[in-house]
Amino acid sequence: MERNPLKILIIDDEKEFGLSLKALIESEGYFVAYEEFPLKVEQRLSKEEFHLLICDIYMPGYGGITLLEEIHKKHPQIAFIMLTGYPSIPNAVTAMKLGADNFFSKPIQPETLLQEIIRIDRSHSWTDAESCALEDKIITGCPEMRQILQEMTKIADSNATVLITGESGTGKELIADLLHFNSPRKGKPCIKVNCAALPETLLESELFGVEKGAYTGAETMRIGKFEAANNGTVFLDEIGDMTFSTQSKVLRVLQDHEFYRVGGNQLIRVDIRIVAATNRDLARLITEGKFREDLYYRLSVVNCYLPSLKSRTGDISLLSEHFLNIFNNIYRKQIKRFSPQTRILMEQHSWPGNIRELKNCVERCTLFCEGDEIVPTHLPFRNTLAVGSISSGAEMEEMNRRQILSALEQSRGVRKEAATLLNIDRRTLYNRMKKLGIY
Ligand SMILES: Nc1ncnc2c1ncn2[C@@H]1O[C@H](COP(=O)(O)OP(=O)(O)OP(=O)(O)O)[C@@H](O)[C@H]1O
Ligand SMILES: [Mg+2]
Repeated sequence: MERNPLKILIIDDEKEFGLSLKALIESEGYFVAYEEFPLKVEQRLSKEEFHLLICDIYMPGYGGITLLEEIHKKHPQIAFIMLTGYPSIPNAVTAMKLGADNFFSKPIQPETLLQEIIRIDRSHSWTDAESCALEDKIITGCPEMRQILQEMTKIADSNATVLITGESGTGKELIADLLHFNSPRKGKPCIKVNCAALPETLLESELFGVEKGAYTGAETMRIGKFEAANNGTVFLDEIGDMTFSTQSKVLRVLQDHEFYRVGGNQLIRVDIRIVAATNRDLARLITEGKFREDLYYRLSVVNCYLPSLKSRTGDISLLSEHFLNIFNNIYRKQIKRFSPQTRILMEQHSWPGNIRELKNCVERCTLFCEGDEIVPTHLPFRNTLAVGSISSGAEMEEMNRRQILSALEQSRGVRKEAATLLNIDRRTLYNRMKKLGIY
Protein backbone atom coordinates (compact mmCIF):
# COMPACT_ATOMS: atom_id res chain seq x y z
CA MET A 1 0.00 0.00 0.00
CA GLU A 2 1.10 3.54 -0.84
CA ARG A 3 2.58 5.34 2.15
CA ASN A 4 0.60 8.34 3.33
CA PRO A 5 3.35 10.78 4.32
CA LEU A 6 3.34 12.74 7.55
CA LYS A 7 1.80 16.15 6.91
CA ILE A 8 3.59 18.98 8.63
CA LEU A 9 2.63 22.62 9.11
CA ILE A 10 5.30 25.16 10.05
CA ILE A 11 4.13 28.32 11.82
CA ASP A 12 6.67 31.10 12.13
CA ASP A 13 6.39 34.85 11.68
CA GLU A 14 9.94 34.90 10.25
CA LYS A 15 9.07 34.01 6.70
CA GLU A 16 12.61 33.36 5.55
CA PHE A 17 13.26 30.93 8.40
CA GLY A 18 9.91 29.21 7.93
CA LEU A 19 10.42 28.69 4.22
CA SER A 20 13.96 27.40 4.55
CA LEU A 21 12.80 24.95 7.22
CA LYS A 22 10.01 23.87 4.88
CA ALA A 23 12.54 23.20 2.10
CA LEU A 24 14.76 21.22 4.45
CA ILE A 25 11.99 18.95 5.69
CA GLU A 26 10.50 18.55 2.23
CA SER A 27 13.82 17.28 0.98
CA GLU A 28 13.33 14.31 3.33
CA GLY A 29 10.11 13.38 1.56
CA TYR A 30 7.53 14.86 3.89
CA PHE A 31 4.56 16.98 2.90
CA VAL A 32 5.19 20.43 4.40
CA ALA A 33 3.13 23.64 4.41
CA TYR A 34 4.05 27.03 5.83
CA GLU A 35 1.84 29.53 7.63
CA GLU A 36 3.02 32.99 8.60
CA PHE A 37 -0.01 33.99 10.69
CA PRO A 38 -0.84 31.97 13.81
CA LEU A 39 -4.40 33.30 13.79
CA LYS A 40 -5.08 31.50 10.53
CA VAL A 41 -3.99 28.10 11.78
CA GLU A 42 -7.32 26.97 13.23
CA GLN A 43 -9.13 27.72 10.04
CA ARG A 44 -6.55 25.81 8.02
CA LEU A 45 -6.89 22.82 10.30
CA SER A 46 -10.62 22.72 9.68
CA LYS A 47 -9.95 22.29 5.96
CA GLU A 48 -6.63 20.46 5.75
CA GLU A 49 -5.26 17.50 7.64
CA PHE A 50 -1.94 17.88 9.44
CA HIS A 51 -0.23 15.42 11.75
CA LEU A 52 2.53 17.64 13.10
CA LEU A 53 2.79 21.37 13.79
CA ILE A 54 6.23 22.97 14.14
CA CYS A 55 5.58 26.23 15.85
CA ASP A 56 7.60 29.29 16.84
CA ILE A 57 6.92 30.65 20.33
CA TYR A 58 7.31 34.42 20.06
CA MET A 59 5.11 35.78 17.30
CA PRO A 60 3.45 39.19 17.32
CA GLY A 61 -0.11 39.16 18.60
CA TYR A 62 -0.55 35.46 19.21
CA GLY A 63 2.10 33.37 20.90
CA GLY A 64 2.98 29.79 20.08
CA ILE A 65 2.13 28.63 23.60
CA THR A 66 -1.44 29.95 23.29
CA LEU A 67 -1.73 28.34 19.90
CA LEU A 68 -0.47 25.03 21.28
CA GLU A 69 -3.02 25.19 24.09
CA GLU A 70 -5.93 26.00 21.77
CA ILE A 71 -5.08 23.46 19.08
CA HIS A 72 -4.24 20.70 21.55
CA LYS A 73 -7.70 21.06 23.11
CA LYS A 74 -9.47 20.53 19.83
CA HIS A 75 -7.06 18.20 18.08
CA PRO A 76 -5.18 16.25 20.75
CA GLN A 77 -3.88 13.83 18.12
CA ILE A 78 -1.77 16.51 16.41
CA ALA A 79 1.85 16.44 17.47
CA PHE A 80 3.73 19.64 18.30
CA ILE A 81 7.35 20.67 18.14
CA MET A 82 8.01 24.09 19.63
CA LEU A 83 10.93 26.21 18.41
CA THR A 84 12.20 29.41 19.90
CA GLY A 85 14.96 31.91 19.48
CA TYR A 86 14.52 32.98 23.12
CA PRO A 87 14.65 29.77 25.10
CA SER A 88 13.65 29.70 28.75
CA ILE A 89 13.06 26.86 31.17
CA PRO A 90 9.54 27.96 32.19
CA ASN A 91 8.54 28.09 28.53
CA ALA A 92 9.92 24.63 27.84
CA VAL A 93 8.16 23.20 30.87
CA THR A 94 4.87 24.93 30.03
CA ALA A 95 5.05 23.72 26.44
CA MET A 96 5.71 20.13 27.51
CA LYS A 97 2.92 20.25 30.09
CA LEU A 98 0.51 21.56 27.48
CA GLY A 99 1.24 18.55 25.33
CA ALA A 100 4.15 19.56 23.10
CA ASP A 101 6.22 16.60 21.92
CA ASN A 102 9.46 18.50 22.06
CA PHE A 103 11.01 21.91 22.50
CA PHE A 104 14.10 23.15 20.66
CA SER A 105 16.05 26.38 20.65
CA LYS A 106 17.04 28.12 17.42
CA PRO A 107 19.32 27.76 15.63
CA ILE A 108 18.45 24.12 15.48
CA GLN A 109 20.64 21.38 14.08
CA PRO A 110 18.87 19.91 11.04
CA GLU A 111 19.72 16.33 12.10
CA THR A 112 18.22 16.87 15.54
CA LEU A 113 14.98 18.17 14.10
CA LEU A 114 14.78 15.47 11.42
CA GLN A 115 15.41 12.76 13.98
CA GLU A 116 12.55 14.09 16.07
CA ILE A 117 10.27 14.18 13.03
CA ILE A 118 11.14 10.57 12.25
CA ARG A 119 10.35 9.65 15.85
CA ILE A 120 6.99 11.42 15.70
CA ASP A 121 6.28 9.92 12.31
CA ARG A 122 6.80 6.48 13.81
CA SER A 123 4.62 6.97 16.83
CA HIS A 124 1.89 8.92 15.05
CA SER A 125 1.57 6.96 11.83
CA TRP A 126 -2.13 6.77 11.17
CA THR A 127 -1.74 4.62 8.12
CA ASP A 128 -0.59 1.19 7.17
CA ALA A 129 2.87 2.55 6.92
CA GLU A 130 5.68 0.72 8.58
CA SER A 131 3.53 -1.88 10.24
CA CYS A 132 5.16 -4.77 8.46
CA ALA A 133 8.61 -3.29 8.99
CA LEU A 134 8.17 -3.12 12.76
CA GLU A 135 9.10 -6.69 13.43
CA ASP A 136 12.31 -6.10 11.52
CA LYS A 137 13.03 -3.11 13.72
CA ILE A 138 12.85 -5.16 16.88
CA ILE A 139 16.28 -6.67 16.87
CA THR A 140 16.85 -9.77 18.95
CA GLY A 141 18.47 -13.15 18.77
CA CYS A 142 17.28 -14.21 22.20
CA PRO A 143 14.91 -17.22 22.08
CA GLU A 144 12.79 -15.86 24.93
CA MET A 145 12.34 -12.53 23.12
CA ARG A 146 11.61 -14.30 19.83
CA GLN A 147 8.86 -16.24 21.50
CA ILE A 148 7.41 -13.04 22.98
CA LEU A 149 7.42 -11.40 19.55
CA GLN A 150 5.67 -14.40 18.04
CA GLU A 151 3.02 -14.38 20.76
CA MET A 152 2.46 -10.65 20.44
CA THR A 153 2.13 -10.83 16.67
CA LYS A 154 -0.38 -13.64 17.13
CA ILE A 155 -2.63 -11.75 19.53
CA ALA A 156 -2.16 -8.35 17.89
CA ASP A 157 -5.34 -8.54 15.86
CA SER A 158 -7.52 -9.39 18.85
CA ASN A 159 -8.93 -6.73 21.14
CA ALA A 160 -7.24 -8.23 24.16
CA THR A 161 -5.81 -5.77 26.64
CA VAL A 162 -2.10 -6.31 27.08
CA LEU A 163 0.02 -5.44 30.09
CA ILE A 164 3.68 -4.99 29.19
CA THR A 165 6.14 -5.05 32.05
CA GLY A 166 9.90 -4.89 32.24
CA GLU A 167 12.69 -2.64 33.41
CA SER A 168 13.08 0.83 31.96
CA GLY A 169 14.38 0.83 28.40
CA THR A 170 13.59 -2.83 27.61
CA GLY A 171 11.36 -1.98 24.64
CA LYS A 172 7.86 -1.79 26.13
CA GLU A 173 6.76 1.03 23.86
CA LEU A 174 8.11 -0.80 20.84
CA ILE A 175 5.93 -3.81 21.70
CA ALA A 176 2.93 -1.48 22.04
CA ASP A 177 3.67 -0.19 18.51
CA LEU A 178 3.94 -3.75 17.24
CA LEU A 179 0.54 -4.59 18.71
CA HIS A 180 -1.11 -1.56 17.14
CA PHE A 181 0.45 -1.81 13.70
CA ASN A 182 -0.29 -5.50 13.39
CA SER A 183 -3.94 -5.03 14.32
CA PRO A 184 -6.93 -4.04 12.19
CA ARG A 185 -6.76 -0.72 14.07
CA LYS A 186 -3.49 0.24 12.37
CA GLY A 187 -5.12 2.87 10.15
CA LYS A 188 -6.56 4.59 13.22
CA PRO A 189 -4.75 6.57 15.90
CA CYS A 190 -2.41 4.99 18.41
CA ILE A 191 -2.39 7.51 21.21
CA LYS A 192 0.17 7.33 23.97
CA VAL A 193 -0.31 8.79 27.42
CA ASN A 194 2.37 8.90 30.08
CA CYS A 195 0.39 8.49 33.28
CA ALA A 196 3.35 9.45 35.47
CA ALA A 197 3.90 12.81 33.84
CA LEU A 198 0.76 14.59 34.95
CA PRO A 199 -0.92 15.24 38.30
CA GLU A 200 -4.27 13.50 38.83
CA THR A 201 -6.63 16.26 37.66
CA LEU A 202 -4.62 17.04 34.55
CA LEU A 203 -4.31 13.37 33.68
CA GLU A 204 -8.07 12.90 34.00
CA SER A 205 -8.85 15.82 31.71
CA GLU A 206 -6.22 14.53 29.30
CA LEU A 207 -7.77 11.06 29.24
CA PHE A 208 -11.48 11.80 29.48
CA GLY A 209 -11.71 15.34 28.11
CA VAL A 210 -13.38 18.30 29.79
CA GLU A 211 -16.86 19.73 29.45
CA LYS A 212 -17.17 23.47 28.93
CA GLY A 213 -17.37 25.23 32.29
CA ALA A 214 -16.23 22.17 34.27
CA TYR A 215 -13.87 24.39 36.22
CA THR A 216 -12.58 27.95 36.06
CA GLY A 217 -10.58 28.22 32.90
CA ALA A 218 -12.41 25.43 31.04
CA GLU A 219 -13.87 27.80 28.50
CA THR A 220 -14.42 25.32 25.74
CA MET A 221 -15.22 21.65 25.54
CA ARG A 222 -12.15 19.53 24.96
CA ILE A 223 -12.12 15.89 24.00
CA GLY A 224 -9.71 13.53 25.71
CA LYS A 225 -7.34 10.88 24.44
CA PHE A 226 -9.88 8.06 24.82
CA GLU A 227 -12.24 9.84 22.47
CA ALA A 228 -9.51 10.97 20.10
CA ALA A 229 -8.32 7.37 19.81
CA ASN A 230 -11.75 5.99 18.93
CA ASN A 231 -11.38 2.85 16.80
CA GLY A 232 -7.67 2.86 17.54
CA THR A 233 -5.37 2.02 20.44
CA VAL A 234 -4.55 3.86 23.67
CA PHE A 235 -1.17 3.12 25.20
CA LEU A 236 -1.23 3.88 28.93
CA ASP A 237 2.43 4.15 29.80
CA GLU A 238 3.65 4.05 33.41
CA ILE A 239 0.23 2.89 34.58
CA GLY A 240 1.70 1.94 37.97
CA ASP A 241 1.91 5.65 38.74
CA MET A 242 -1.78 6.33 38.23
CA THR A 243 -3.70 7.36 41.36
CA PHE A 244 -6.29 5.06 42.87
CA SER A 245 -9.18 7.31 41.94
CA THR A 246 -8.15 7.61 38.27
CA GLN A 247 -7.66 3.83 38.24
CA SER A 248 -11.36 3.36 39.06
CA LYS A 249 -12.38 5.52 36.12
CA VAL A 250 -10.05 3.69 33.75
CA LEU A 251 -11.44 0.37 35.00
CA ARG A 252 -14.86 1.51 33.89
CA VAL A 253 -13.54 2.29 30.40
CA LEU A 254 -12.07 -1.21 30.25
CA GLN A 255 -15.24 -2.90 31.46
CA ASP A 256 -17.96 -0.91 29.75
CA HIS A 257 -16.12 1.15 27.13
CA GLU A 258 -17.75 4.27 28.46
CA PHE A 259 -16.96 7.29 30.61
CA TYR A 260 -17.94 10.88 31.39
CA ARG A 261 -15.89 13.89 30.39
CA VAL A 262 -14.67 15.84 33.43
CA GLY A 263 -17.65 17.93 34.56
CA GLY A 264 -19.94 16.18 32.09
CA ASN A 265 -23.07 14.08 32.55
CA GLN A 266 -23.35 12.54 29.12
CA LEU A 267 -21.94 9.03 28.80
CA ILE A 268 -19.40 8.77 26.00
CA ARG A 269 -18.90 5.38 24.36
CA VAL A 270 -15.69 4.47 22.62
CA ASP A 271 -14.22 1.51 20.79
CA ILE A 272 -10.61 1.33 21.80
CA ARG A 273 -7.99 -1.24 22.55
CA ILE A 274 -5.93 -0.57 25.64
CA VAL A 275 -2.30 -1.51 26.02
CA ALA A 276 -0.63 -0.61 29.30
CA ALA A 277 2.97 -0.65 30.47
CA THR A 278 4.88 -0.19 33.66
CA ASN A 279 8.33 -0.79 35.07
CA ARG A 280 6.94 -1.00 38.57
CA ASP A 281 6.06 -4.11 40.49
CA LEU A 282 2.25 -4.07 40.35
CA ALA A 283 1.91 -7.10 42.64
CA ARG A 284 3.73 -5.16 45.33
CA LEU A 285 1.69 -2.03 44.69
CA ILE A 286 -1.45 -4.15 45.14
CA THR A 287 -0.31 -5.45 48.52
CA GLU A 288 0.56 -1.89 49.53
CA GLY A 289 -2.96 -0.83 48.58
CA LYS A 290 -1.74 1.48 45.84
CA PHE A 291 -3.00 -0.42 42.81
CA ARG A 292 -6.47 -1.85 42.29
CA GLU A 293 -6.44 -5.61 42.03
CA ASP A 294 -9.52 -5.65 39.77
CA LEU A 295 -7.84 -3.25 37.36
CA TYR A 296 -4.74 -5.41 37.38
CA TYR A 297 -6.73 -8.46 36.29
CA ARG A 298 -8.55 -6.48 33.64
CA LEU A 299 -5.28 -5.14 32.25
CA SER A 300 -3.38 -8.36 32.26
CA VAL A 301 -5.61 -10.40 29.98
CA VAL A 302 -2.31 -10.94 28.20
CA ASN A 303 0.91 -10.42 30.12
CA CYS A 304 4.14 -9.59 28.39
CA TYR A 305 7.30 -9.46 30.47
CA LEU A 306 10.38 -8.15 28.69
CA PRO A 307 13.69 -9.53 29.99
CA SER A 308 16.48 -7.10 30.87
CA LEU A 309 19.37 -6.64 28.45
CA LYS A 310 21.78 -8.10 30.99
CA SER A 311 19.91 -11.38 30.83
CA ARG A 312 20.15 -11.54 27.03
CA THR A 313 23.85 -10.86 26.53
CA GLY A 314 23.79 -12.13 22.94
CA ASP A 315 21.65 -9.16 22.03
CA ILE A 316 24.28 -6.67 23.18
CA SER A 317 26.47 -7.15 20.11
CA LEU A 318 23.50 -7.57 17.77
CA LEU A 319 21.90 -4.35 18.96
CA SER A 320 25.13 -2.37 19.09
CA GLU A 321 25.84 -3.23 15.41
CA HIS A 322 22.29 -2.20 14.57
CA PHE A 323 22.57 1.14 16.38
CA LEU A 324 26.04 1.76 14.92
CA ASN A 325 24.49 1.50 11.45
CA ILE A 326 21.78 3.95 12.37
CA PHE A 327 24.13 6.53 13.90
CA ASN A 328 26.70 6.13 11.10
CA ASN A 329 23.92 7.28 8.79
CA ILE A 330 22.68 10.09 11.00
CA TYR A 331 26.11 11.54 11.72
CA ARG A 332 27.53 10.69 8.29
CA LYS A 333 30.34 8.57 9.70
CA GLN A 334 31.91 5.39 8.44
CA ILE A 335 32.83 3.60 11.62
CA LYS A 336 33.36 -0.06 10.82
CA ARG A 337 33.54 -1.89 14.11
CA PHE A 338 33.84 -2.06 17.89
CA SER A 339 37.32 -3.18 18.94
CA PRO A 340 37.46 -6.61 20.67
CA GLN A 341 38.32 -4.93 23.99
CA THR A 342 35.31 -2.62 23.65
CA ARG A 343 33.04 -5.59 22.98
CA ILE A 344 34.24 -7.31 26.13
CA LEU A 345 33.63 -4.20 28.22
CA MET A 346 30.19 -3.81 26.73
CA GLU A 347 29.33 -7.39 27.50
CA GLN A 348 30.51 -7.00 31.08
CA HIS A 349 28.54 -3.82 31.69
CA SER A 350 25.30 -4.27 33.64
CA TRP A 351 23.13 -1.96 31.45
CA PRO A 352 20.72 -0.72 34.13
CA GLY A 353 19.05 1.48 31.49
CA ASN A 354 18.80 -1.53 29.16
CA ILE A 355 18.42 -0.96 25.42
CA ARG A 356 17.88 2.78 25.75
CA GLU A 357 21.21 3.01 27.60
CA LEU A 358 22.91 0.89 24.94
CA LYS A 359 21.48 3.07 22.19
CA ASN A 360 22.66 6.26 23.93
CA CYS A 361 26.04 4.66 24.51
CA VAL A 362 26.48 3.77 20.82
CA GLU A 363 25.34 7.25 19.81
CA ARG A 364 27.96 8.77 22.07
CA CYS A 365 30.66 6.42 20.75
CA THR A 366 29.72 7.35 17.18
CA LEU A 367 29.98 11.04 17.97
CA PHE A 368 33.35 10.76 19.66
CA CYS A 369 34.98 8.26 17.34
CA GLU A 370 37.19 9.91 14.73
CA GLY A 371 38.60 6.78 13.10
CA ASP A 372 36.92 3.62 11.88
CA GLU A 373 36.94 1.66 15.14
CA ILE A 374 35.26 2.29 18.47
CA VAL A 375 37.73 1.80 21.31
CA PRO A 376 37.21 1.59 25.10
CA THR A 377 37.96 5.29 25.65
CA HIS A 378 34.80 6.14 23.70
CA LEU A 379 32.64 4.27 26.20
CA PRO A 380 30.79 6.46 28.68
CA PHE A 381 30.97 4.02 31.57
CA ARG A 382 34.68 3.37 31.68
CA ASN A 383 36.75 6.48 31.96
CA THR A 384 35.00 9.75 31.41
CA LEU A 385 38.22 11.72 31.85
CA ALA A 386 39.81 9.97 28.90
CA VAL A 387 36.73 10.59 26.84
CA GLY A 388 36.85 14.26 27.72
CA SER A 389 40.45 14.55 26.62
CA ILE A 390 39.90 13.12 23.18
CA SER A 391 36.82 15.10 22.36
CA SER A 392 36.41 18.78 21.79
CA GLY A 393 34.60 20.93 24.35
CA ALA A 394 31.94 21.73 21.78
CA GLU A 395 31.21 18.04 21.23
CA MET A 396 30.90 17.46 24.94
CA GLU A 397 28.52 20.38 25.24
CA GLU A 398 26.38 19.14 22.39
CA MET A 399 26.29 15.69 23.94
CA ASN A 400 25.28 17.13 27.30
CA ARG A 401 22.66 19.30 25.72
CA ARG A 402 21.12 16.38 23.85
CA GLN A 403 21.06 14.18 26.92
CA ILE A 404 19.38 16.88 29.00
CA LEU A 405 16.79 17.70 26.33
CA SER A 406 16.05 14.06 25.81
CA ALA A 407 15.63 13.48 29.56
CA LEU A 408 13.34 16.52 29.79
CA GLU A 409 11.37 15.21 26.89
CA GLN A 410 10.96 11.80 28.47
CA SER A 411 9.88 13.37 31.73
CA ARG A 412 7.58 15.77 29.88
CA GLY A 413 9.43 18.69 31.37
CA VAL A 414 9.40 17.50 34.97
CA ARG A 415 12.89 18.44 36.08
CA LYS A 416 13.05 16.16 39.10
CA GLU A 417 12.28 13.15 36.94
CA ALA A 418 14.71 14.27 34.25
CA ALA A 419 17.43 14.45 36.90
CA THR A 420 16.60 10.91 38.05
CA LEU A 421 16.81 9.67 34.47
CA LEU A 422 20.21 11.27 34.10
CA ASN A 423 21.30 9.94 37.44
CA ILE A 424 22.19 13.38 38.80
CA ASP A 425 20.50 15.54 41.40
CA ARG A 426 18.09 18.30 40.55
CA ARG A 427 20.45 21.12 41.42
CA THR A 428 23.21 19.68 39.21
CA LEU A 429 20.74 19.41 36.36
CA TYR A 430 19.64 22.99 36.87
CA ASN A 431 23.24 24.24 36.97
CA ARG A 432 24.12 22.33 33.81
CA MET A 433 21.13 23.72 31.98
CA LYS A 434 22.13 27.21 33.04
CA LYS A 435 25.74 26.69 32.05
CA LEU A 436 24.83 25.28 28.66
CA GLY A 437 22.40 28.13 28.13
CA ILE A 438 19.87 25.81 26.55
CA TYR A 439 16.97 27.51 28.22
N1 LIG B 1 14.74 -5.09 20.43
C1 LIG B 1 14.97 -3.83 20.06
N2 LIG B 1 15.48 -3.56 18.85
C2 LIG B 1 15.76 -2.31 18.46
N3 LIG B 1 15.54 -1.23 19.23
C3 LIG B 1 15.05 -1.42 20.45
C4 LIG B 1 14.71 -2.72 20.93
N4 LIG B 1 14.20 -2.62 22.16
C5 LIG B 1 14.22 -1.30 22.46
N5 LIG B 1 14.72 -0.58 21.45
C6 LIG B 1 14.94 0.89 21.44
O1 LIG B 1 15.35 1.25 22.74
C7 LIG B 1 14.73 2.45 23.17
C8 LIG B 1 13.92 2.19 24.42
O2 LIG B 1 12.79 1.39 24.12
P1 LIG B 1 11.33 1.72 24.67
O3 LIG B 1 11.10 3.19 24.69
O4 LIG B 1 10.36 0.88 23.94
O5 LIG B 1 11.53 1.20 26.18
P2 LIG B 1 10.54 1.21 27.42
O6 LIG B 1 10.55 -0.15 27.98
O7 LIG B 1 9.24 1.80 26.99
O8 LIG B 1 11.30 2.17 28.43
P3 LIG B 1 10.72 3.04 29.67
O9 LIG B 1 10.24 2.09 30.71
O10 LIG B 1 11.89 3.80 30.13
O11 LIG B 1 9.62 3.88 29.11
C9 LIG B 1 13.88 2.92 22.00
O12 LIG B 1 14.64 3.84 21.27
C10 LIG B 1 13.64 1.65 21.19
O13 LIG B 1 13.42 1.94 19.85
MG1 LIG C 1 8.35 3.64 27.64
